[in-house]
Amino acid sequence: MSVLANLNEQARAKAIKLEDVDWERPIDPSKLWVPWELCPLSYTKVYDHLTEEEKLADNHIYALSLAEQFVFLEDNILNQVMLSLRQTRSFKKQYLGDPELSEAMQHLYDEEVVHAEMFWRLCEKAEPETYPERSYKLIPITRFKLWAVRTIFSHPMLFPFWTWVGALFEEKTIYFSRLYEKYPESEMDATFSQVHRLHMIDEARHFALEREFVKMLWGKLSAPKRALNLFFFKSFLKNFVHPIQSSMTRFDALVKRHPRVEEYRALANREVRIFPGNKKWVEASFSPAVLPGCFKLFKQYDDISKAMAEILK
Ligand SMILES: [Fe+2]
Ligand SMILES: [Fe+2]
Repeated sequence: MSVLANLNEQARAKAIKLEDVDWERPIDPSKLWVPWELCPLSYTKVYDHLTEEEKLADNHIYALSLAEQFVFLEDNILNQVMLSLRQTRSFKKQYLGDPELSEAMQHLYDEEVVHAEMFWRLCEKAEPETYPERSYKLIPITRFKLWAVRTIFSHPMLFPFWTWVGALFEEKTIYFSRLYEKYPESEMDATFSQVHRLHMIDEARHFALEREFVKMLWGKLSAPKRALNLFFFKSFLKNFVHPIQSSMTRFDALVKRHPRVEEYRALANREVRIFPGNKKWVEASFSPAVLPGCFKLFKQYDDISKAMAEILK
């Protein structure tokens, strides 16, 4: 059986459903909502000055921002790409004759729609007062950025660096889920944990599909297109490896909840700017230990290996 046929069979049998989450169970504000290891602020000196209550508030803010980030990536990048590929003549001509690929893309699209709904519901259930409507509150998205992202990812054959962005974020969800599994229910909110563990079931398959897209689209790029894509890949990924702006957006949210924290703004500003040199952070977020499949895949492509080394140095 081909890789794609196998993925499709698994998707038909195992794709998660919204009803798999226990939406009746209340979310517990006295517990963690995300593993500590994922919170960027916990890798800075700001943390030394926070009370336990403030640290927990930061944990909750990060958990909500992570949910928003998933919705953003799934709606505006992956599903935008899936829709646009179907309308791109060169892709249709070369690849869409394969019914297995067409089916796999449909599964991915449908599953991401379910995930986006699941993450919005999680945000609304956790903090209804923060989410009177579905809009991004904790990630730094401007209208211009949204327009730029949508424009770029609606041209997936011109900008196939999306294959790497997809692979990195799909594999990261597997790591998130592994961390959630480490935390007992007495410490971690059960619904947040359940959502992330369910998400991983579909994302492990999506990661396998992204690897197929890398093989299909990245290897065949002309030199000028490759240079353009490497530029975009590095610019895009730097926002995640060095979460400077997003950390300050979350810091603002923390100050709203705990105004005392404002006195550490200057320290926070300094600390987030040195994320690139914060080895512990980089090791915990973009390293072979966190993303073993991606780092193995990078080795097959010199240009991406070099780009990653530049971003991580
Ligand atoms: Fe997803
Ligand atoms: Fe996915």
